[in-house]
Amino acid sequence: MIEIVPNWHPLWVHFPIALLSVAALLFWLTSLKPDHHRAAMLTSVARWNLALGLVSLAPTLATGLLAYNSVAHDSAGHVAMTRHLWVALLASLLFVLAGLLAWRDRRRAAGAAPLLALLLLPAWLALMTTGYLGAENVYRHGIGVERLPDPDDHHHGHNGHGDHDHDGAPPEARQEHSHPSTEMDGHQHHH
Ligand code: HEM
Repeated sequence: MIEIVPNWHPLWVHFPIALLSVAALLFWLTSLKPDHHRAAMLTSVARWNLALGLVSLAPTLATGLLAYNSVAHDSAGHVAMTRHLWVALLASLLFVLAGLLAWRDRRRAAGAAPLLALLLLPAWLALMTTGYLGAENVYRHGIGVERLPDPDDHHHGHNGHGDHDHDGAPPEARQEHSHPSTEMDGHQHHH
């Protein structure tokens, strides 16, 4: 396991979110204008995005469950993870149904069957909610976070220079930075 990654779930989550969103968007657009000269090609792109998005759900769900069973958490974090789990399963189920409908509809020249276009709406909303709740796990409940910032270790200047001008500072100066006793006024920086 690469040390900076507490588990592999955050690496996978982007794939279903992006691929399934593009699929939904393109199905909607091509259904609005099935006669457009690009509609057939874009419908094919939508189908590929849907298929790849469905494939990417497998590692996303698997790594999510692994994370669920391994990460340190408290009770609030547990409730948040469980809520995220259920909405993720709902989103996955709805997209699998969408995949079946799209397969049944595969001979259509362009656009989506009305039922598919309709189903993609709750599916996409559930997917977005899953992403939001997943981010809450991390940013609100600190799940999967290996260390929190130590604000006492880093002070911002009051002279308008800020504190992010470390470029060119010699390594000794950077070390000094993590030494609170020399840091109290926050102006140990070389500008
Ligand atoms: C559709 C499937 C899923 C999607 C799109 C998804 C999405 C996300 C996202 C966007 C995050 C935040 C990552 C970050 O900010 O770096 C996250 C975190 C998390 N998710 Fe999921 N998730 C899915 C399924 C699951 C499942 C089934 C579980 C099992 C309970 C799960 C458990 C977790 C946990 C524990 C975290 C906290 C970060 C970590 O330890 O990896 N996820 N998820």
